[in-house]
Amino acid sequence: MRVAIIGTGYVGLTTGVCLAYMGHSVWCLDTDASKIQALCAGQIPIFEPYLDELLGAARPNLRFTTSYPDAIPGAEVVFIAVGTPPTPSGAPNLEYLSQAARMIGEHLNGDFTVVVNKSTVPIGSGNWVGSLLRDASEQRAAGNSADFAVASNPEFLREGAALHDSLYPDRIVIGADEQRALEVLYSLYRPILDQTFPAPTFLPRPEDVSAIPLVSTDLASAELIKYAANAFLALKISFINEIGLVAERVGANITEVARGIGLDSRIGPRFLNAGIGWGGSCFGKDTAALIATASEYGLHMPIVEAAKTVNTRQRDKVVEKLLHELKILKGRTVGLLGLAFKPNTDDLREAPAIEIAQKLIDRGVRVKAHDPIARERFEREHGTMGVHLCDEAEGVAEGCDALVLVTEWPEYRDLPWDRLARKMRHAFILDGRHALDREKITRSGMQYVTIS
Ligand code: UDX
Repeated sequence: MRVAIIGTGYVGLTTGVCLAYMGHSVWCLDTDASKIQALCAGQIPIFEPYLDELLGAARPNLRFTTSYPDAIPGAEVVFIAVGTPPTPSGAPNLEYLSQAARMIGEHLNGDFTVVVNKSTVPIGSGNWVGSLLRDASEQRAAGNSADFAVASNPEFLREGAALHDSLYPDRIVIGADEQRALEVLYSLYRPILDQTFPAPTFLPRPEDVSAIPLVSTDLASAELIKYAANAFLALKISFINEIGLVAERVGANITEVARGIGLDSRIGPRFLNAGIGWGGSCFGKDTAALIATASEYGLHMPIVEAAKTVNTRQRDKVVEKLLHELKILKGRTVGLLGLAFKPNTDDLREAPAIEIAQKLIDRGVRVKAHDPIARERFEREHGTMGVHLCDEAEGVAEGCDALVLVTEWPEYRDLPWDRLARKMRHAFILDGRHALDREKITRSGMQYVTIS
């Protein structure tokens, strides 16, 4: 099938490359000409494991353009995968979405086209996008609206595992109020639903993956599924962090508690890792948008609100723990291990490390940091914060009064702790992710503390 994708960010580029790998003819459009130029030259603007390799395999079916007249006419499916960043009120900024919808409407030809919201959009946006498409196509064709239907196809991609989650998803959700739209998307996704595509050598098909469940529903349900899924994941993490507060007081081991409840098949073991809590561009934005949507209907969401409150408090706990240990923060030096919001990405959006560094700098602390991948992005986006970046993790320890493990990059588990302890002014580490080896670190003479 012929597919157009508007937006070449994490979602758009990943979706485009995967659909092209399935054999579809895919046009990826972005209004940022420099991004398109880089993509045409084979340079990928984001760090996503194996995206380079899969793009190479799919390249014959992929085109990159800034031109709507090139991308839209003849496309059977058009995905909108533009950013919907949060506004101060929590409601998402929809200017990029409306711009894309208008441009698509102006360039639809007479053939039936399914226009799909892939971006996370407020519930009810499908109808709004439909009206923008209709207005734009009627203006261009003197009152004759193009033949299209709007659908929702929310993504559930984890950064750092986006390709795995695209090729081998737990489920595919499609929502539309017209059956023919659902049928088009069903045939588009058949190779993934039936798992009939050849598994890439670098991303082998997991043993337990065969047919993929399809949730085919109405527009509003598909849009709400996305928000409810992210809100629940955020809630699950904040729940274990709230239990962590109690565990710390009663002397319980929160990782053992998480294991003990996670073995209950109704709870499940994943997303119960206690620690500094969640960051990233999705949980904060989507929980805020869900609360904003609810408030438009006069509804309150105390559970989702609480998930956000608990998560914010976890970052404050890092400073509290350092204050408790060091008594005076002003003039101290603290080293952060990890900057990205989680391992296997260079994404710094809502990253706990950024907020923690700022809180420490505001208290007169000299902050040093290391990250194996996110350093360049940090220098570009936060270079003026005054954080001293180190090339090696060991360099962070030099002269430090405390270390904080913020991002659980695997390489931090095997650091030479006795050498680090000798380099530090005060040999103390706060493990913000329960990711390090307590015994090994304690043996090195370094004091080991966890956040809960
Ligand atoms: C999330 C959702 O998982 C994905 O389905 C959605 O499409 C986008 O948002 P992502 O933000 O990439 O994906 O990261 P994820 O792996 O979900 O982790 C989110 C945050 O939660 C990270 O900051 C991570 O450190 C934190 N986390 C995760 C925990 O603190 N504890 C856990 O047990 C798991």
